[in-house]
Amino acid sequence: MGTTTLVRPGLAELIAGVRVAATRHAEDPRRAAHAVADVLRASPALGTDILTAAERTETRGHVLHAEADFSITAIVWSPGQITRIHDHIAWCAFGVLEGVEHETLYRDNGDHLTEIGQTANHVGDVSGFAPPGDIHRVHNTSTTNAISLHIYGADLSVAGSSVRRYYDIPVR
Ligand SMILES: [Fe+2]
Repeated sequence: MGTTTLVRPGLAELIAGVRVAATRHAEDPRRAAHAVADVLRASPALGTDILTAAERTETRGHVLHAEADFSITAIVWSPGQITRIHDHIAWCAFGVLEGVEHETLYRDNGDHLTEIGQTANHVGDVSGFAPPGDIHRVHNTSTTNAISLHIYGADLSVAGSSVRRYYDIPVR
């Protein structure tokens, strides 16, 4: 009986660490992304038990925290799921909790995109990036769910989405 408070292991400490890093580098999104990535890399929150067993089966974004300067979202990707090509409204740091996430990076040439790189992100891999130059798509190429933790430099409870633009122009 009564209510139970859900404890997400490491989340409170992660929030505190991200707040320090994001504030320190508020004028430089690229440095903020890298500093937040360093915080995430060292965080016990970088494990699947940040979500409940039930949440790990729900293939969507789970917003775990949002405040004025950043938000923390765990995304559960279904097998084969692929995003549209997009970029973001703010810096982002992300780490893989389960599975493998293939990321493809693009350059915007106005009327078309050029592929400029591919990365396979495995469990424990963390990286950070910031706009401009963050045009990408993410693909869960495996036959199981993949889970990643994303920290964006924006209040997603206000912004609604972290996406700045979807790119529906040809890739050459
Ligand atoms: Fe993205």
